[in-house]
Amino acid sequence: MSDKWHRIAGIDELPEGTMRAFVIEGREVVVCHSRGAWFALDNTCSHAFARLCEGRLRAYRLICPLHGASFDVRDGRVLGAPATAPVAVHRLRIADGQVEVALGD
Ligand code: FES
Repeated sequence: MSDKWHRIAGIDELPEGTMRAFVIEGREVVVCHSRGAWFALDNTCSHAFARLCEGRLRAYRLICPLHGASFDVRDGRVLGAPATAPVAVHRLRIADGQVEVALGD
């Protein structure tokens, strides 16, 4: 787990109910803004290859665009098949109106 915080965007660039992909140290991460909070996860579905940022965000549920698996943005756990493995989550904080992410494992 990294202690290095990456400033990626202003909070006003990520309105409620939206998500956006960022590349941090070569790793693609999707940042979701839902229910007043922000979450960062790996952007690749654990089932096959699909970018989760191209799916849908419904409250805390992130739905893969390819086969419809869903994940909880709070902890990456699987909420719906066909995925069986979670996606990695990353630490996120808001500092001075900016979204900052520190990569997990
Ligand atoms: S690639 Fe995401 S559900 Fe299959």
